[in-house]
Order: sequence, then C-alpha cells, then structure tokens
Amino acid sequence: MTLRKPIIAANWKMNKGPAEASEFVAHFKLEAADLEKVEIVIAAPFIALSSITGKNFAVAAQNCSDKESGAYTGEISVSMLKEVGVEYVLTGHSERRSLYGETDLEVNAKNCQILDHGLKPIFCIGETLAEREAGNLKSVLKTQVTEGLKGICNEGVLNCVVAYEPVWAIGTGVTASPEQAQEAHAMVRGLIAELYTPEIADQIRIQYGGSMKPANADELLGLPDIDGGLVGGAALDPESFLSLVRSAVNSVS
Ligand code: PGA
Repeated sequence: MTLRKPIIAANWKMNKGPAEASEFVAHFKLEAADLEKVEIVIAAPFIALSSITGKNFAVAAQNCSDKESGAYTGEISVSMLKEVGVEYVLTGHSERRSLYGETDLEVNAKNCQILDHGLKPIFCIGETLAEREAGNLKSVLKTQVTEGLKGICNEGVLNCVVAYEPVWAIGTGVTASPEQAQEAHAMVRGLIAELYTPEIADQIRIQYGGSMKPANADELLGLPDIDGGLVGGAALDPESFLSLVRSAVNSVS
C-alpha cells in the first residue's frame, strides 16, 4: 500500500480579507519536521491570496473560471491564480453547487482547466441528508466522481485531491461517524479504482470535510481511507488549525 501524505486544507470561505489573512499567517507557525509529514493548504478569498503566498504552505483559491480569458465580468481565470502563486483550487464545493447552481459539467470543465494550467483541483463531492436517507449515497458519489473527472487521464487524476464532504455535516457541527466516513471514503476509492486503476486509487488522496475540529480530528484522520481534511469553521483560528495539523502529523507518526 502506498503511504499517502496527509493533506490538511483550511477553507476560509468568505472570511478574512488581506489584513486578517496576514494576521493569521503571522500566528501560524509550522515546524519543519511536521511539514515533511503533512501538506498544508489554505484556501483564501481571491483578494487575500497574494498576502499569504510565498510561505511554507500551499495556497488555494476557492473557485475559478472554466474559461481561459475574455468577456466574463467578475470571473478569475486559472492563469491569473497561477500568476499570484496559487497551487490548488477548490471545485464542486457544496456551497457552490447549492447556492450558485454549479453543475457536474461545470465542475468538470473547471477541473480540466485547472489541470491544463498545471494547478491541482481539490475536487469536492458529497451527498445531502435526503440522498443518504433515500439510500442513494453510492449513486450520488458515483455520478459526481464520474462526471467531475470525465476526460481526465491517469496522470491528471493523480494531480487531483478528492474531498468527501457530506453536505449535512458542513458547518452544522454534526460530523460523520468514523464508520460513515470510512465507508464513504472506501466507496470513493473503489469508484476511482473502477474508473482508473487500483494503483491510482491507492495513491489518490481523499480528504474528509464537514465539522472536522480538534475534538474529532484524531479519530477521523486515523481511519485507513482518510488522507486529511478540508476544514471550514475550525480553520479560522491559527491555534485550532495548528491542532488539526498536529493530528494529521500524529496519524502518520
Ligand atoms: P466546516 O466546513 O468544517 O465548517 O464544516 C467544511 C467545508 O465546507 O469545507
């Protein structure tokens, strides 16, 4: 089995402009030894990205255009993100799917655009409570994974990180139980093995997202198919986010 390097990402959502982002970074002190074991990413609002690049963690944008350039008022292209030092871009986050109507087709176009420019998608998937209760967990994940990765080759998919985020756990304080999280992660890895190869499925990192916090991180990150976290609320404070980094370090120590 491949040893997958855990990846812990902060998703600040629409919080922290340049001043607050700089203040966070000033208080966010990472140990060199920890950085060898864990990859750290911060997904900041567009206008705060430049304030936090060039440090010892990777920077992510929370969205991008699926177009190259042109008359798309208000949009930001992947090449612009690359110019300011962005390495990852979130795609398919449930808030973008539910509040802004993003479809699997658009998520796929963004994933392709990001990979074409040499950046890496953090591709989010996850079911709603109604879908889970109706017994549709696997079919929902299968559609999202299959459509979102359409046309992406073996080499491309290895540059993607998948984030499994049950919609009912995002920002609600309700976390998936270890059994629920492990089951869904193993399912996603199985889907990737079917779409690509078992070797690729073994290498790809799958983060858990949805009310991850210092109190539950050790347990979640200790599960065999969970390779990190995508964290909203608990990543707004540097001490809390550092504690999650420690949990990820401990999960591989
Ligand atoms: P949460 O958000 O940790 O606040 O639940 C996670 C996310 O939306 O990525």
